[in-house]
Amino acid sequence: MKFFIDTANLEEIKEAYELGVLDGVTTNPSLMAKEGISGEDKVRNHYKAICDIVDDKVSAEVIATDFDGMIREGKALAKIDDKIVVKIPMIKDGIKAIKYFSSEGIRTNCTLVFSAGQAILAAKAGASYLSPFIGRLDDIAFDGLDLIAQIVHIYQNYGFETEVLAASVRHTMHLVKCAELGADVVTCPLKVITGLLNHPLTDKGLAQFLADHAKANK
Ligand code: E4P
Repeated sequence: MKFFIDTANLEEIKEAYELGVLDGVTTNPSLMAKEGISGEDKVRNHYKAICDIVDDKVSAEVIATDFDGMIREGKALAKIDDKIVVKIPMIKDGIKAIKYFSSEGIRTNCTLVFSAGQAILAAKAGASYLSPFIGRLDDIAFDGLDLIAQIVHIYQNYGFETEVLAASVRHTMHLVKCAELGADVVTCPLKVITGLLNHPLTDKGLAQFLADHAKANK
């Protein structure tokens, strides 16, 4: 399972990278705005700075919602760095854009996915990654994890190569359950990754080991 961090914050990306378990980064327009990044040049430079930290894929989202605009923006984003994956919303022109980029050999991440039907469309169009938003489904009393299970099953039935990238992951159990269900990737905030470290018996056991060692070495 690959771990992507879902942020545009350079310090958090560095911290996750230094832990040695980070495979990539996802961003979205809200996350870029949160870091105060605006204007074409600043956005491009920020994506480049992210690419310079990590070894693998960095999702950068288009703002346009029409086919021509998405193609123009996506091509410009893809030129920033080989690690860039063009993130495209699950809308009609988005599917056409994914098909176009797939035939051009440009990687895509189909975002804002909330149903199995949308997942089938994106895979048929040749998306490299599919981002079902599980936390946002949970927010409205639909089970986001059920959707992951359904999509993994459908993709296995047909050997679709699109990777299931579980997004809107809010806590450690989301991540663990996604691993059980066979999601290819999870993207989540830093606190979800570091949250995996925690267990009171680890803390208690380590304290005991250190105390015993200190006693024996007085
Ligand atoms: C992923 O690509 C999305 O940007 C992200 O996971 C959305 O998460 P949220 O629902 O917590 O905003």
